[in-house]
Amino acid sequence: MTENIELKILTEKDINTDILNWYLDKEVTKFSDNQYRKFTLESQKQYIRDCNATDSKFLYGIFYDKTYIGNMLISNISKNHKTAEISYFIGNRKYWGKGIMTTVIKMVIDLSKDFLKINKLYAGVASENYSSIKALEKNNFIKEGNRIQHLYYNFKYYEQIDYGLILNLK
Ligand SMILES: CC(C)(COP(=O)(O)OP(=O)(O)OC[C@H]1O[C@@H](n2cnc3c(N)ncnc32)[C@H](O)[C@@H]1OP(=O)(O)O)[C@@H](O)C(=O)NCCC(=O)NCCS
Repeated sequence: MTENIELKILTEKDINTDILNWYLDKEVTKFSDNQYRKFTLESQKQYIRDCNATDSKFLYGIFYDKTYIGNMLISNISKNHKTAEISYFIGNRKYWGKGIMTTVIKMVIDLSKDFLKINKLYAGVASENYSSIKALEKNNFIKEGNRIQHLYYNFKYYEQIDYGLILNLK
């Protein structure tokens, strides 16, 4: 199943009206700041243009069997500290629970070390986002701390768990 996954830098031509439904799905945005944003085709294209205009972030589309199913963002890249943050989602829930994000995170670990020369990746996750936590922990991310009432989603406060992974860049 997971061998059909590709990561490609997202371009405007990958965007179509179907993806606007991703952001209307309350399960998809449950633990994400996307619940506070308005999405249009033009705003998505602008977002892609903005990401592709800087070298401090890389926005990858996640493709399964050539179908665009979600995003993986590598952001806050610090050349000094060799650190970067990852954030991600799969927009169409029929692709959840199949090991796809666990594999995508593995792919990002490899390209961060080999291509971006990153020494440490980190991610912040809402404490009740169990599938995201599992995908990180299956890739050996270590819990580095808890931030109390750090996130507010759907009228409820959550702890943010900060995860990190040292890549041992030489
Ligand atoms: C979080 C998300 C990316 C996970 O992607 P995914 O491809 O479904 O994840 P995977 O299938 O690789 O792994 C999920 C694991 O969590 C497990 N899981 C799912 N729900 C769970 C729950 N309620 N409790 C415990 N484990 C759970 C799955 O069984 C799977 O483990 P397994 O492979 O050992 O069976 C996806 O659910 C998503 O896009 N959510 C919305 C956006 C989001 O929350 N992004 C992350 C913000 S930090």
